Amino acid sequence: MKDQAERLRQMVMTLREKRDKNRGGPRVIAVTSGKGGVGKTNISVNLAISLSKQGYKVIIIDADFGLANVDVLLGIIPKYTFKDFIKSQMSITDILTEGPCGIRFISGGSGMYDLVNLSSTHLERIVEDICKLDGWADIIIIDTAAGISNNVIKFAVAASETILVTTPEPTSITDAYALMKAISTLKQEVRINLIVNKAENIKEAVEIIDRFADAANKFLGITVTKLGYVLFDGAVTKAVKRQQAFCIASPNSYASKCIQTIAGNLIDGRYNPNIRVSGIGTFIKRLLGRR
Ligand SMILES: Nc1ncnc2c1ncn2[C@@H]1O[C@H](COP(=O)(O)OP(=O)(O)OP(=O)(O)O)[C@@H](O)[C@H]1O
Ligand SMILES: [Mg+2]
Repeated sequence: MKDQAERLRQMVMTLREKRDKNRGGPRVIAVTSGKGGVGKTNISVNLAISLSKQGYKVIIIDADFGLANVDVLLGIIPKYTFKDFIKSQMSITDILTEGPCGIRFISGGSGMYDLVNLSSTHLERIVEDICKLDGWADIIIIDTAAGISNNVIKFAVAASETILVTTPEPTSITDAYALMKAISTLKQEVRINLIVNKAENIKEAVEIIDRFADAANKFLGITVTKLGYVLFDGAVTKAVKRQQAFCIASPNSYASKCIQTIAGNLIDGRYNPNIRVSGIGTFIKRLLGRR
């Protein structure tokens, strides 16, 4: 009886999820961190592939203005970048690069930040064209730079959801907390999904996630969604050296299994009861402070 009730509940969740998925455009999720090198790009790429394998259309926007990483990680040289889109009459869909397992990505680089200096007529065309992405994706993942600089915070504030990545190192945890605090001062309803990466074991990961979520709730009044963890795994470094996504190079590795669980949690209505589907247009307008 209990099993049947649970199955029914899950069915309703899935239906609700499907309904939300089709309304108002894709979910726009910023992947961010306080400290650099914690695994944002690896998580963005492998999560995108894992979601794509489950039938979702996923686009990654590489918004790390310092170093364009997604292309390097995948060993793919993009023909065009966001700069080409801004500087020419190209459409946003022309600058999409095909990645493995059906994912697509846009190399944003510094071009993302040229947006703020455009004349308003030029900007109108750009924003209007960017909205075409809504028809190309169910989920848009934005791989941001690290740190509590204005630019990084703006991306996290503009996105409807944020994935915050930390490692078990105390410096990484305190920087993640500082970033979350900075986001919360600019945004009323903060939606933080936490991932602990490079954990030595499950116990360590769970303890950090619980402590972080408790502190966020107690001191900032923020409810943190415990999205999951990725164990430290040599398969990741090996795949990075081969310029392959680890979930393709080593699908049975610990790290790949962790990513699969995280992908499942991300689309599970129980983890995200009020999934926000805002579309890329809203994201860009918020980024530019127009809403
Ligand atoms: N779970 C893991 N196990 C082992 N090594 C990992 C793991 N995750 C990431 N790494 C290693 O950490 C390094 C940094 O990863 P990545 O480039 O994804 O981080 P990042 O947060 O995007 O960095 P940046 O802030 O520079 O953009 C990579 O060299 C990768 O091999
Ligand atoms: Mg990166």
